[in-house]
Amino acid sequence: MKTLMVKIRRNAGEFTPEEDEALRRAGKIIRDGGLVAFPTETVYGLGGDALNRESSRKIYAAKGRPSDNPLIVHICRFEDIYEIVSEVPETAVKIADAFWPGPLTMILNKSEKVPTETTGGLDTVAVRLPSDRTAQKLIEYSGGYVAAPSANLSGRPSPTVARYVVEDMDGRIEMIVDGGEVGIGLESTIVDLTVSPPQILRPGYVTREMLEKVLGRVDTDVTVLKADTGQAPKAPGMKYRHYAPKGELTVVEGKPDAVTVYINEATAADSRNGEKTGVIGTSELLAEYRADVVKCVGSREDEEAIARHLFTVLREFDEEGVTKIYSESFEAAGLGQAIMNRLLKAAGHKVIRV
Ligand code: TXA
Ligand code: MG
Repeated sequence: MKTLMVKIRRNAGEFTPEEDEALRRAGKIIRDGGLVAFPTETVYGLGGDALNRESSRKIYAAKGRPSDNPLIVHICRFEDIYEIVSEVPETAVKIADAFWPGPLTMILNKSEKVPTETTGGLDTVAVRLPSDRTAQKLIEYSGGYVAAPSANLSGRPSPTVARYVVEDMDGRIEMIVDGGEVGIGLESTIVDLTVSPPQILRPGYVTREMLEKVLGRVDTDVTVLKADTGQAPKAPGMKYRHYAPKGELTVVEGKPDAVTVYINEATAADSRNGEKTGVIGTSELLAEYRADVVKCVGSREDEEAIARHLFTVLREFDEEGVTKIYSESFEAAGLGQAIMNRLLKAAGHKVIRV
């Protein structure tokens, strides 16, 4: 299949007639059962018609994703939620008021309209109303319900720029909408509203503290930061090795001096064994490292920058053929919880404490 590429300037005022035409064309592809990758404020999504079981099957095939891993249904107006869920609880209205449109996904009981292919066999459905204008327009032109997992091959880091979507999806889908770099860089927060108290299944930009201000007590799935709980994650997708670079990634935890000494010794030893070494560091410690490739993920003072750069940095190590990667560790509070959740999964929970 030849994958069509179109460019849209995101968040730059009104769409030009050409851009609008391109989005209409993308919408038609989805309505006709095809797949289109598009930018959202979190990461690029791989969109298909959420109410068409064949489209969902195609999404799993294009990503190489196990079909028990449910998809998020994206809408562009709050009212549209009533079609796809059996009941809208008070909690859903409250957090929609506070965080939609935006990087938040709610789990609710599904209606008959949503095929079980889309929900990976579950009776619940994940719903999100993104704030990105390009995404909203595309959803509107697609008929209102777009199933969209992150637009990466299963197991790879989620794409933050169209170039990485091309890398994983070229030839597998009908169209890629290139809207430049996304704003947040980590996927949406997922909160399960079918349980009481509500439970965070995947941390993201909307933090537990932010949700608790609106909902009162909110729990977090214990598997979010721990590997050895003996429990399966409640979001089926979180059980798979994920976000992983091709090189072997180790997270090093401890005081800054001890971390830099450890990483320098480890990368020196790896180099002697013929490995190409890399470090994910913060700007505060960057000058200390001696590895072959040293990447700055941002400043410790700016967690949003770290969130935005993490997946990009992981992909860049692959592009440069790095085989052993070491990363600093981060505070697991606030947005740091989402950062550590993705980093630990990318590392397959390989952590060294020094
Ligand atoms: O920011 C995002 O959410 C991006 C953009 C494209 O919107 N999408 C995204 O989708 O991250 P995906 O498919 O890569 O991740 C969806 C996660 C998976 O871990 C899946 O298991 C979980 O949501 N999920 C979906 N439906 C669920 C359900 N009914 N119950 C529990 N978890 C669910
Ligand atoms: Mg994903």
